[in-house]
Amino acid sequence: MKVLVTAGPTREAIDPVRFISNRSSGKMGYAVAEAARDAGHAVRLISGPVALAAPEGVALVRVTTAAEMLAAVKQHVRGCDVLVMAAAVSDWRPKKIAALKLKKSDGPPRIAWEATPDILKTIAPLKKNAQVFCGFAAETDRVAAEAKRKRREKNLDAIAANDVSKKGRGFESDRNALTIFLATGRAVRVAPTTKKNCARILLGVLAGIEKKKKK
Ligand code: CTP
Repeated sequence: MKVLVTAGPTREAIDPVRFISNRSSGKMGYAVAEAARDAGHAVRLISGPVALAAPEGVALVRVTTAAEMLAAVKQHVRGCDVLVMAAAVSDWRPKKIAALKLKKSDGPPRIAWEATPDILKTIAPLKKNAQVFCGFAAETDRVAAEAKRKRREKNLDAIAANDVSKKGRGFESDRNALTIFLATGRAVRVAPTTKKNCARILLGVLAGIEKKKKK
């Protein structure tokens, strides 16, 4: 299969020296890309700024902002069989990026915010029937209900929910636990394990969906 993966956070500039972002390390998305490569698939990884080494044997596209990630996803989504959006896209950005450094002496800045594009919602109309799109849901409460809502609203075949309020998994950790909600109503639970194992199991589930669709 041709597998397209997004990973890491995005960064939205405030001024030449500051940005808003989130705690995503990129580890889950990179694990998905590596697991797909190890399973023999052709993999392209669209990555926000992370401290991880470029995985060997994977086509890497580096981006910084949500707008850049959207453009890269739009460019590469057409030819893929499976899309896994593991990136933690910043939801907001300053309406205007200050051209000059905001000075401390001017006091706390009043920043006007706007929403970034929702990448999955934007590309949903481009989705072909045979393609499998999977999102992630980072939740701190009402995990199942929120993940299911996002799966429906973003027209996904599957969404991997992780509870990021739990210690020792999710953001920055090498471990995770997932509940993968499928469009069929089925849910696959992955008990706490390494992100590498989570990635392998998730890919197995997605390959199964892809196979059924191609029949
Ligand atoms: N996502 C996206 N574009 C955005 C924000 C999120 O494509 N601007 C994708 C993420 O990559 C993930 C899924 O949507 O696969 C869910 O992301 P999440 O941050 O959990 O949800 P949000 O849609 O941002 O909703 P909320 O902030 O209400 O939790």
